[in-house]
Amino acid sequence: RHVIITIDGPAGSGKSSVAKMVAQRLGFAYLDSGAIYRAVALYLLQKGIPPDDEAQIEESLKGMNIHIKDLQRIYVNGNDVTMAIRSPQVDEVVSSYAALPVVRRRLFSLQRDLRDDRDLIAEGRDMGTVVFPDADLKIFLKADARTRAIRRWKELMERGVDISFDDVYYQIVQRDEKDANRKLSPLMPAEDAIILDTSELTLEEVVDKVTELIKD
Ligand code: ADP
Ligand code: CDP
Repeated sequence: RHVIITIDGPAGSGKSSVAKMVAQRLGFAYLDSGAIYRAVALYLLQKGIPPDDEAQIEESLKGMNIHIKDLQRIYVNGNDVTMAIRSPQVDEVVSSYAALPVVRRRLFSLQRDLRDDRDLIAEGRDMGTVVFPDADLKIFLKADARTRAIRRWKELMERGVDISFDDVYYQIVQRDEKDANRKLSPLMPAEDAIILDTSELTLEEVVDKVTELIKD
């Protein structure tokens, strides 16, 4: 059987950078589950279907075909949306769509099916609690909201996105709250997760720690 490592945590805690770097070091495949929720949000946003119209969302998702190529690029009905899902517009609405049971149920099996033929690091909000409850190692990254907002804001500035720090901070806090308070698979550490606070650590230090934990 192949090894599965899960990394969960709130926005900006370092999940994707850490998961990517550890995967590269150890030759594991890397699953960014947030990208799939983002793709659904972008699709529904473009169709103009609001998050409170569950009936229409359920109907509309029947016409949505999601394809993840080599766990690298994400396609919706043949269109590459890998970059488009990273916009502040998607940031703003993704948690509202992700809170809906019709959306989550649709994505569970899709995510589980990605665990096929390689060791895997899966990163998101419910990887250790719901999607891969039998994972070999579960990590939960956290950091204070301000630190996480600074990280995300820097990243957006580097990409040339025009947004104020206050807006980024507000978005992160809002998203955390929605993710933590939804009914189905809320954001929380699995009972058997190792919790790591990354507020005072560099990316390298976190990557080293996680690599050590996997090797043990
Ligand atoms: P998440 O996937 O949890 O939202 P990311 O991995 O995207 O978080 O990290 C957000 C930003 O913060 C990235 O630009 C990343 O380089 C930076 N970052 C992540 N972890 C740390 C850390 N421990 N120290 C400093 N910067 C970090
Ligand atoms: O990178 P960041 O942490 O900002 O976000 P992400 O991992 O791309 O996830 C975007 C959103 O998708 C989260 O805020 C959650 O609302 C949702 N999500 C989820 O509900 N379950 C997951 N396993 C992953 C993401």
